[in-house]
Amino acid sequence: MQTMTANQSEFIQLHHASDQQLRAELSAGLLSASAFASPKYFYDALGSRLFAAICELPEYYLSRTEASIIDAYLGEIAAAVGMGGTLIDLGAGNCAKAARLFPALQPAQYVPIDISVDFLRDAVGDLQQRFPHIRMTGLGLDFSSELQLPDSVQRRQRLFFYPGSSIGNFTPAEAAAFFRRLHAACGNDGGLLVGVDLVKATAILDAAYNDALGVTAAFNLNLLLHLNRLLGADFDIAEWRHVSFFNTAQSRIEMYLEARQAVTVKWQGGERRFQQGERIHTENSYKYTPEDFVQLLQQAGFKVTRTWNDADDWFMVCHARAM
Ligand code: AVI
Repeated sequence: MQTMTANQSEFIQLHHASDQQLRAELSAGLLSASAFASPKYFYDALGSRLFAAICELPEYYLSRTEASIIDAYLGEIAAAVGMGGTLIDLGAGNCAKAARLFPALQPAQYVPIDISVDFLRDAVGDLQQRFPHIRMTGLGLDFSSELQLPDSVQRRQRLFFYPGSSIGNFTPAEAAAFFRRLHAACGNDGGLLVGVDLVKATAILDAAYNDALGVTAAFNLNLLLHLNRLLGADFDIAEWRHVSFFNTAQSRIEMYLEARQAVTVKWQGGERRFQQGERIHTENSYKYTPEDFVQLLQQAGFKVTRTWNDADDWFMVCHARAM
């Protein structure tokens, strides 16, 4: 009979931006000639729930399609990435996507990373009970800007898992720089399992970001409520509307909040008059061709070993090795 040692999960909060830094960054975005707010501010408690609801929408095919690819090819994925390594989950949230990989990959260590370690505690606590033999180390870290992993993350056979086409929320230049940082953190025997949304008919893309129930609109508008709390601002969401469309030339969905009428917004240490129709840019979501995405990985030093697509070629999951 195999003996199993029950592990105690550990949590480490790494560098956190100070409230002052955060307010300065937000204020600069709102005052810029073309106003913007980073998409990372979508994800307060309500925003995270709204995003989970988006993933259930008939129009938002991304998460569903990715899950169907992973389920269909789990055996092949395990054969490509290897078993018993260190599974590092970037933007883990409720850890559900990575947990689907556990039975096939049997990682020795699971390292969920999210911006705040508090988001991870409940999910990891539950998972640790279900998988007592896997060592779990939750990290609070803004991995989009830095990727210094603590010593308690094993160096052996690191597999970075970056699902959901979150890579599409970076510009291609940022994505290339991010992949180079991942490549450096992989070590010789490491790799990357990444999901990416592919270019397809504009009508399908437009609908995915402008659903009939208005959940994406609520997700986008909720960013203003979050800014009200973070900045002490006085945005009235009734004065703003959700705008999104596929920009074919840039191969990206662009999302904005547009003033329905002229409005002055005030916050601690700043104010701005927005004209009717003026917009705050909130998100880009890039869509790739398989060839362009593979090239992006190769330029960062990765060797792409396998790709898996759904039958319609709407989404692609890629495994790339560091060496
Ligand atoms: C998290 N990210 C991959 C989503 C996307 O599709 O770009 C965020 C999102 N924005 C609107 N709907 C979903």
